[in-house]
Order: sequence, then structure tokens, then C-alpha cells
Amino acid sequence: MSWKLGKSKPKANVTSLAIQDLQISPRSTTPTPGNPNGKPMPRSGILAIRVLWSEGLNVPGAVPPAVQAALSSQQAKAAASVSPSSVTQHRLASHKKGTRDSVQRQQCWWLPYLVMEFEVNQVLITPLGGDMEKPLYMYETHFDVSRNSEISIQCYLRTEEPKRGSDGIADDMGNDIFMGGVRFKPDFDDLPTQDTWYELVGGSGKIQIGLAFQPNNGQSLTIDDFELITVIGKGSFGKVMQVRKRDTSRIYALKTIRKQHIVERGEITHTLAERLVLARVNNPFIVPLKFSFQSAQKLYLVLAFVNGGELFHHLQREQRFDEERARFYSAELLLALEHLHELDVVYRDLKPENILLDYTGHIALCDFGLCKLNMKDSDTTNTFCGTPEYLAPEILYNQGYSKVIDWWTLGVLLYEMLSGLPPFFDEHRHHVPEDSQ
Ligand SMILES: Nc1ncnc2c1ncn2[C@@H]1O[C@H](COP(=O)(O)OP(=O)(O)O)[C@@H](O)[C@H]1O
Ligand SMILES: [Mg+2]
Repeated sequence: MSWKLGKSKPKANVTSLAIQDLQISPRSTTPTPGNPNGKPMPRSGILAIRVLWSEGLNVPGAVPPAVQAALSSQQAKAAASVSPSSVTQHRLASHKKGTRDSVQRQQCWWLPYLVMEFEVNQVLITPLGGDMEKPLYMYETHFDVSRNSEISIQCYLRTEEPKRGSDGIADDMGNDIFMGGVRFKPDFDDLPTQDTWYELVGGSGKIQIGLAFQPNNGQSLTIDDFELITVIGKGSFGKVMQVRKRDTSRIYALKTIRKQHIVERGEITHTLAERLVLARVNNPFIVPLKFSFQSAQKLYLVLAFVNGGELFHHLQREQRFDEERARFYSAELLLALEHLHELDVVYRDLKPENILLDYTGHIALCDFGLCKLNMKDSDTTNTFCGTPEYLAPEILYNQGYSKVIDWWTLGVLLYEMLSGLPPFFDEHRHHVPEDSQ
């Protein structure tokens, strides 16, 4: 949670304001860089993706010894004889509802696996059989579409047999070998009706993919469309929960905001800003908003669930990062902040707790509760908010500050990543602003 000393704001009649504002601007018609007129686009609905098999794959360099040994096993010989026709339609159907990792899928660890990503929703696709050059996936899944997004399918080879947790799920992502991938933006109005081959970039070979899109019927979601799984964070205005959308079985983070709280604390503008900003951003390093809806008491933001944990926890565990890693995160954050600045948004709350890592180790910036909209380059504002260790001097001096305070916080973050502590730090938090003045 952030430290806010905002001035108290007018409290009358704000609930209805919040509700109206949320309604006049349905997400699909919010003007965005890709849709400047804000015209409704046929892009919300459900996308079905089938990944059938690959051909002509090639391991760059030598095949790792553990893989070579596994390839000559009886198991591998049996797997090599699995053919598309031996995988029945029934089998495809049984994978639709989420329980992907059959025993058979888990066994073929020596064959190239795929990481499929759509709107920061990542799916691991392990082969059913086949061989190194031609692994067979026969996999189908569904994604909720909330904008015109890219599908990414990247192919990797493990170098060793993955260790499995007690749940039987592989403990993934070692130094796996990249074998190429595809990235493309489907045209939802004109999808190919047949399975299509896509050439891998950054490797050799191709992959066969089938797509189908079902636009949604315009009905708005309710909390009943989601199954609550667990609480993952306590937000300042409510909870953040991990949820499963019942129809597609996709996992999301659901941020619940109690209207009463935001009214009592005069935070309407911030809350509206959070939703509006999230609706407009389309950046690989910012957690995308998938849906938003409300009940009489609460506002709900449904975000892509980012499962690699907070940068905060990684930093605590490892004390500090080496230069290369710190540079990598800073570069991705720079792109995220630059994107927000282009949209005239100042973020104001950069810190390791608001930075998540995804499955493949990339940054996803979350928590837009403190951002401010309509900040042109020369605009300044005065609201005293942020986190003590990360406050820029101009905020502390109360002289008005601009978007550039985000670069200050990025500098503080870089310092913290490299050294383990922020540059301005005191165990007694109220001393921090004095130190940094
Ligand atoms: N999309 C997400 N995926 C996974 N975890 C999330 C997501 N959004 C938020 N969280 C978790 O919930 C915590 C609180 O959410 P946040 O939006 O930062 O609320 P607050 O405004 O209270 O700081 C985050 O620090 C993070 O650990
Ligand atoms: Mg936060």
C-alpha cells in the first residue's frame, strides 16, 4: 500500500458520479491509439486456438546429453509412434476445459514444448508425442479477447528432466533452449477458416495453428461469472483475488474496490483514473485490464493474472540483482512508463511491490491507483502522494511536479535493485522524507 497524504476532497454525491463515469465510457469504445475514434471494435469475445504440430524443428547446437539419453529410451520410441490420427477428437475435447496436463503430456519432457501467450495469459503446451523434428501437440484452448492483441507461440527445449512438485506439475524454466517462435495479430473479422502453417522466426521449421473467434453477445459480466480461488493481495480499497472465469476457465486477478471506501477517502478520481488508464494501455509490460463491471457496492477490475510474483519478493529473497538483470527490468519499465507518458499519464507509484514478473520473467507493471491523467509534458500537479522512499524532491518541496517524477522513481528502483536498499532509507519511515530533502 502507498503512503498518501492527499488533501480531503469534496464528498457529496460522489457515488453516483463514479457509477456514471464508469458507464459512459464502456471499455470497447474508449479511444485508444489503435482506435482513435473510439468506435466499437469487434474484438471482445472468445478466441479458440488449436495448435496441431510442428515440422522441421532444429535444435541449435548440440542436443543436451539428458535429452539425448531420453530420446533413446523405450518411452521415447512409444511417443514417436503417436500420430495425429491416434489422438482422437474426443481427446481434444477433453482438453478444452483446462486440465491440460495429462500424464502423457508430462512424460514427453525431452521434446520441444511451447509457451503460448495472449494478453499476458500464458499457457504451457507440452507435446503428446512425435519426435524432435516433428512434435505433436493436438492442443486446443480458449482465450478471452478484450482488444486487438497478438498471439505469441514460442518453442523451447528443456535441457534436463524437470523436477515435479507434489502436485505433479513441472517446476519449470531452467536454462531451456529457444527454438524459435511465431507472433502475429489475428484479424478477428477475417480469420483463416483452415488450419494454417506459420514459419518460426529465430529458429527453423513451422507450426500448424487453427483459429476461431466468437464475438460476445454484449452482455456485461457479473461476479457470478467467476469462481473465486484465493486472495492474492490486499489492496488499499479492497482485495485482489485469483479467480477463474467459468466459461473459458481462464485465470485472472480480480481487484475489488468498495465504493464506500473510495467515497469516504475522497479517492474517486484516482479510482476512475485507474480504470480509464488500464482500459487505454496496450503495452507488453503493463498488466492488461480484461473487463470491468460493478455491483451496487463494489467496482471490479478483472486483470490478467501475472504469476511470477512481485519483484519485491524476488529482491527480498535474492537481496540484490546483478547489473544485467537490473538493466533488463529497468529497460522494460522504461518502456512501460514511456507508454504511460505518451498517453499523458503520470504513474507516481513505481516500487517493487507494484511490479510483477510473468511466467517467462518479463515485467508487468500493476496498480494504477495513484496515476493521474491528462498530464501534458509541461503540466504540473501538487497532490502529495507516493511511497516515502521513492518520493522525488519536487514532491517533498511541494513546488508542483510533472511526469518526470516517474524517472526519479525509476532511478530509485534501479538503485534498490543493485544494492538491496533504496538510496533514501530509514528504519523509521517518517524520517525518510527528511533524509531525501
Ligand atoms: N494482475 C495481477 N496478477 C497477480 N497479482 C496481482 C495482480 N494485481 C495485483 N496483484 C497483487 O495484489 C497486490 C495489490 O494490488 P495493487 O493493485 O498493487 O493494490 P494496492 O492499490 O492496494 O497497492 C499487488 O502488490 C500484487 O501482489
Ligand atoms: Mg500496490
